[in-house]
Amino acid sequence: MIRVLESPDGVAREAAREIVALARGSARFRIALAGGSTPRALYRLLATEFRDQVDWPRVEVFFGDERCVPPDHEQSNYRIAAESLLSRVPAGKVHRIEAEAGPVVAADRYDALLKSLAPSDPLFDVVLLGMGADGHTLSLFPGFDRGGHAGRLAAAADAGPRAAVRERVTLTLDAVARSRVAIFLVTGSDKAATLRRVHEDGGPTLPASMVRARDRTLWLVDAAARG
Ligand code: 6PG
Repeated sequence: MIRVLESPDGVAREAAREIVALARGSARFRIALAGGSTPRALYRLLATEFRDQVDWPRVEVFFGDERCVPPDHEQSNYRIAAESLLSRVPAGKVHRIEAEAGPVVAADRYDALLKSLAPSDPLFDVVLLGMGADGHTLSLFPGFDRGGHAGRLAAAADAGPRAAVRERVTLTLDAVARSRVAIFLVTGSDKAATLRRVHEDGGPTLPASMVRARDRTLWLVDAAARG
């Protein structure tokens, strides 16, 4: 399902409303945060205007992916979330991906943690996602070896030679498939051509078009990204 909002703020606000609604009344609420810059506006709203609508101590925080840098590095997804949200709300357990240990070690640790969670179904209540202009999501980049992720909920990834940080850790498509809801946040005209490929050409080739959550996969896009 795709929902078009007028502006990036509209996308962030709609995502905040969705998260509040999904978290309401659930005894436990597991959310996997997205990396990149788009979710910052959402995180700020959750830490301010929507703060009191979430029972934060019952929220367990995970990450969709991480760059293999220290947690205080400017490229760290954890740092972005910590600055804009996690340092400002009393969230329950926060599971940082220890990506500074290197992609293989960190992915194995994260995979083991996710497999140890009980109850294991659904894995997450919400997985937040962004999409790159090349159609990547999480740290699943075009041409990634989907077969190599068999039986895994987290895996090592390579963002390619042009990425600021090549070595990554990522959730797998199976991890999202075992989660209740996936919410994509996509804004900006630079994403418009790719969004068309994902939604109109039905191209299953792009990682973003392969994502299916168990109950609902919601795309929140602004008018610029819709083109
Ligand atoms: C990452 C993200 C990645 C991101 C997209 C979109 O670690 O880079 O997980 O999948 O969501 O690259 O990034 P922007 O929101 O900055 O456009």
